[in-house]
Amino acid sequence: MSDSIKRIAVIPGDGIGREVIAEALRVLEVLKRRNRWPLEWVSFDWGAEKFLREGVTLPAGALEMFRREFHAILFGALGDPRVPSNQHAVDILLGTRFGVDLYVNPRPVKLLDARLCPLKGCAEREIDMVIFRENTEGAYAGMGGNFKRDTPEEVAVQEDVNTRKGVERIIIHAFEHARRHNLKKLCMCDKSNAMPHGHGLWQRTFAEVRKRYPEVEASHLYVDTLALEMIRNPAQFQVIVTCNLFGDILSDLGAGLVGGLGVTPSANLHPGSVSLFEPVHGSAPNIAGKNLANPLAAILSAGMMLDYLGFPEAAGQIESAVAEAIHLDKTTPDLGGSLGTREVGDWICTRLA
Ligand SMILES: NC(=O)c1ccc[n+]([C@@H]2O[C@H](COP(=O)([O-])OP(=O)(O)OC[C@H]3O[C@@H](n4cnc5c(N)ncnc54)[C@H](O)[C@@H]3O)[C@@H](O)[C@H]2O)c1
Repeated sequence: MSDSIKRIAVIPGDGIGREVIAEALRVLEVLKRRNRWPLEWVSFDWGAEKFLREGVTLPAGALEMFRREFHAILFGALGDPRVPSNQHAVDILLGTRFGVDLYVNPRPVKLLDARLCPLKGCAEREIDMVIFRENTEGAYAGMGGNFKRDTPEEVAVQEDVNTRKGVERIIIHAFEHARRHNLKKLCMCDKSNAMPHGHGLWQRTFAEVRKRYPEVEASHLYVDTLALEMIRNPAQFQVIVTCNLFGDILSDLGAGLVGGLGVTPSANLHPGSVSLFEPVHGSAPNIAGKNLANPLAAILSAGMMLDYLGFPEAAGQIESAVAEAIHLDKTTPDLGGSLGTREVGDWICTRLA
C-alpha cells in the first residue's frame, strides 16, 4: 500500500445508509478535486441484500484486508426488517469493531444552531462536548447465555466485561484528547456504587491515570446523575469517558440536545491503524428510499475521517458548511427544512466547491 495515497473502504450498508453515504462520497469527491488530495475509495456491497442472496455477511479475510490495504472505513448503517436476527449487522459491524480492535468511539455532541436545541435559552456552541465510549468490551462483549430457555424458569445472563487494559486505554485516550485540544474538564462516568466489581476497576484506573494529567480538571459522576446534569446544564461538559453501554445511551441523549440523529457523526478508532467512521443513526427503514434521510451526520463523519487521515482543515470546512446549511434551512424535514437527501448534498457540495 502506497503511504501517500489514503485508501478508504466504503460500506454503505442498508436502508438510508446507502443514501447518506452517496452524499458523503460526493462531498469527498469535491474536496479531493479542489485540494488535489490523494484519496481513493473502493465500495463493498455488504449488507442485508447480499446476506439474503448469498448468505455472506463479513467475507473471510475481510479484517486482514482492512488492516493491510486501507487507512479508513466509511460506513453507512446496517439493519433490515427482512433479517430479524440482525445477523449480518452483528457480523459486519461488531465483527469489525472487535476484529480490528476499534476501541475508541468518540461521539461529538455539538450544537451548531441554537434552534436545534430543545432546552430553553440554550445558545449556539454552548453545547460542545465529546463522549468517549469504550467500544470493544463491557455489556456488548456478547458473553452470557440462557438456561431453561422459553420456559417460565428461564434464566438469562449477560456479562459486563471490563479489563484493566480496555479501561485504561480508553481513559488515557480521553485525557490525551483533552490535553491535545487544551480542554480543561474531563468527567468519567460509571455506576460503581451498584456495580462495584466491574466499575470499581474504572474507579481505580481513573484514580491512577488522572495523576498524569494535572492540568485537566478531572471529575466523576454516576451515570444517572450525569444523564440529569447533561439536561440541566450541558455546557459544563467538555470530555466524557465511559463504558460501552452508557456511552451508547448518553450519546443518543446528547444527540437529542443538538438536533437528533440526522446531525451526529462518530468514529471507531484504533489510533495509528485502520479506523471506521459512521453516522450514529441506523438504517431507518421507515424513511428509506424516499429521499428524506438527513445526510449531514454522514457528511460530518466523512469530515472526522479526513481529520484522522491527515487533512484537519477539512473537518472545519465541512462543519462550517453544515452549520450554514442549517442556519439557512437548507435541510431535510427532520430539521424543519423541505429539501431532500440529494438536494442537501447538492447544497453542501456547491458551498464547498
Ligand atoms: N450503526 C448501525 O448500523 C445502526 C445503529 C442503530 C440502529 N441500527 C439498525 O437500524 C435499524 C433501525 O433502527 P432504529 O429505528 O432503532 O434507529 P434509526 O437510527 O435507524 O432510526 C431512529 C429514528 O430516527 C430517524 N432517523 C435516523 N436517521 C435519520 C436521518 N439521517 N435522517 C432523518 N431521520 C433519521 C428514523 O427515521 C427513525 O424514526 C435497525 O435494524 C437497527 O438495528 C443500525
